[in-house]
Amino acid sequence: MARLKVAVLISGRGSNLQALIDACVQRDFPAEIRLVLSNRSDAQGLGRAAQAGIPTQVISHRDHATRDEFDAALDAALQAAGIELVCLAGFMRLLGEAFVERWRDRLVNIHPSLLPAFRGLDTHARALAAGVRFTGCTVHFVRAAVDDGPIIVQAAVPVLPNDDSEALAARVLAAEHRAYPLALRLIGEGRVRVGGDGRVEIRRATAAADAVLNPSA
Ligand code: GRF
Repeated sequence: MARLKVAVLISGRGSNLQALIDACVQRDFPAEIRLVLSNRSDAQGLGRAAQAGIPTQVISHRDHATRDEFDAALDAALQAAGIELVCLAGFMRLLGEAFVERWRDRLVNIHPSLLPAFRGLDTHARALAAGVRFTGCTVHFVRAAVDDGPIIVQAAVPVLPNDDSEALAARVLAAEHRAYPLALRLIGEGRVRVGGDGRVEIRRATAAADAVLNPSA
């Protein structure tokens, strides 16, 4: 079985990268991480990749005059490595429309809320302020608008009475570490398709639960 060739783009801690690395070592996993790219040389995730023997590359936005040039440098590195799918995992740069279109339906992101609620930053503080009873995370295909695009997998977690943003972030992060590998597996198995209506269809889904995680508190 040919495994899907994946690049993971990071800017920091890389705990989602680690979850994907751990998934990819399973013998029957349909994807492999061929490259980890970071825009920051001090990203902790680079060490995780090196530890796993995965090639890494730092492409700093500071070395490029414009976003288009930065995006082109990323694209060149991805092409050179023969990458088929790009996973954003805490990558803190906005990608331009040309890059997003070039990688359409081959570019995924994980966001720490149940989209379309709480796009953008500080999702957990905003979820607490709004008084929602559930929040979670979303793995979605990337579109030009921020935190927009067809939803692949979501995981829900409860908001508990004494939560602060840190406690809630930790609960959501644990869910992220399950949701992202699940989404990558579904894509690697060739089961994810974006329909004409812009929604994701999971082929051969045996249960609604195929793309839904609702871990207990
Ligand atoms: C995660 O919460 C992810 O949802 C968001 O950025 C954070 C990255 O964390 N996009 P890590 O670097 O994967 O630990």
